Amino acid sequence: MALAIMSSGGDAPGMNPAIKKFVDYVYKQGGDPYLIYDGLEGLIDNKITPATHRDVAGILHRGGTIIRSSRSKRFFEHKYRQKAYENLKSHGITGLVVLGGDGSFRAMEKFSSEFDLNFVGIPSTIDNDIYGTDYCLGVDTALNVIRDALDKIRDTASSFNRAFLVEVMGRDCGFLAIVSAMVSGAEVCVIPEVKFDYERIGKRLRKEVEEGRNYALAIVSEGTKQTGEVHKWLQETIGLETRVSILGHIQRGGNPTVRDRLMAFDFTITAVDHLLSHSDSNKVVVYQKGEYKLMEIEEVVSGTYQLPQRYLDAIKLLD
Ligand code: F6P
Repeated sequence: MALAIMSSGGDAPGMNPAIKKFVDYVYKQGGDPYLIYDGLEGLIDNKITPATHRDVAGILHRGGTIIRSSRSKRFFEHKYRQKAYENLKSHGITGLVVLGGDGSFRAMEKFSSEFDLNFVGIPSTIDNDIYGTDYCLGVDTALNVIRDALDKIRDTASSFNRAFLVEVMGRDCGFLAIVSAMVSGAEVCVIPEVKFDYERIGKRLRKEVEEGRNYALAIVSEGTKQTGEVHKWLQETIGLETRVSILGHIQRGGNPTVRDRLMAFDFTITAVDHLLSHSDSNKVVVYQKGEYKLMEIEEVVSGTYQLPQRYLDAIKLLD
């Protein structure tokens, strides 16, 4: 059986360990592994090659994805999906693993509704915003990158009378922001899921400043689009000189943590085992309460990820 793997959309630390495990495990199971380079763009352009152990040697500890990724506009057009399908057929590929996030899974759902595919998605995005799974590859590494940055920012913040506002990624999901606020002891956290009460929180913070607080750390999730507003509020209403750091794409880099490597192995083995025993799967491996399961792609893309209650409660404790 010929199985292929590709990465799509934003890269995430953990993709490389997944690619390595895929090649090694498919060989072990007697199959033929293939690599698709450049994501959906590469699928359209037939950048598909048989994989050797050498292709994936020495990649396990590296961030990013050695087979690269893309956000494909062409894939929205039927003629390019047709081309992509013909390319898979021409290599005799009978199963496909897609490492991707929400946008990639939407594209795969469309693709699989038109052609007879056998594919399994592995949730891979630092945003942790995919419905049906408690965890997406890359999240733990991104959280550790943010934690490291926040520890350093707090060092300098505490040496001055200053507030620091740090904007973190996450698209429309506040997961990275709230977990980072919890583990770094931030005084303020603004996420898209909860309306930020400037008045009430301002009252609390001003009182703390009057009582001697000389610095503060505020985490703002990019999806709120309130970085500018929170900056102004900290300076003018709270009265703390404020610096802004937008962490940006460093959050997507870094060597995958132990958790991301282990999760990558389990996600991949589950996906490959499923593909080897099915011929028309359109599913995503999801991790729920410590177990790996397979969920239909339609269900995954039609749902909306909700932040677990314990994180929403944690936000209230900061109020
Ligand atoms: O989905 C991952 C992510 O890093 C988001 O957190 C962020 O909003 C987006 O991708 C950035 O996308 P790009 O790399 O295309 O600028």
